[in-house]
Amino acid sequence: MINVRKMLLEDIDKVMVVDKDSFSIPWSRESFLLEVKSPLSSYVVAEEDDGKIVGYGGFYLIIDQVEITNIAVLSEYRGSGIGKTILEALIKLAVVGGGKLINLDVRSSNEAAQALYFNYGFKLVGTRKGYYQKPSEDALLLSLDLEEGRFDD
Ligand SMILES: CC(C)(COP(=O)(O)OP(=O)(O)OC[C@H]1O[C@@H](n2cnc3c(N)ncnc32)[C@H](O)[C@@H]1OP(=O)(O)O)[C@@H](O)C(=O)NCCC(=O)NCCS
Repeated sequence: MINVRKMLLEDIDKVMVVDKDSFSIPWSRESFLLEVKSPLSSYVVAEEDDGKIVGYGGFYLIIDQVEITNIAVLSEYRGSGIGKTILEALIKLAVVGGGKLINLDVRSSNEAAQALYFNYGFKLVGTRKGYYQKPSEDALLLSLDLEEGRFDD
């Protein structure tokens, strides 16, 4: 069974394995340390019963604006609902924290992630030309309005 819980400092080594598996420019340990320690940030891990971390995600919240920085699932665990579970957990935390709007960037070629976000009601609000490197690619800027009332429970 997969359990989603708050990310702890001692999870960072395992989270970095997921990150390296998922992104061409993975985050440094320092970046994860800063995020996990930051009072503005909320990060979660998806963990198997045996303690294996198979996914993570997180955001920072400034006043009522939420920025999801990353969601990632180990490649061999993808397609089984873990990404959805992580996104739902982040949306709930964002609502509890007083978030009104969630923003995120996604590679224009990343159809899997876009499908995940569009299924939850995210809307395309803009593009950022050449935002990503390795490979160079545009970002789509997506937003989810949390005030529409669907996320209150
Ligand atoms: C994006 C990602 C987190 C999705 O995680 P996942 O556990 O595979 O997602 P789920 O199994 O929960 O699927 C959720 C939805 O995503 C979409 N999806 C997932 N894989 C897909 C694929 N290969 N093609 C198209 N849509 C896909 C579907 O809409 C799916 O919903 P459905 O099962 O009801 O059709 C995962 O693919 C990943 O880690 N990718 C690499 C890192 C990344 O790109 N992160 C996003 C950064 S913005």
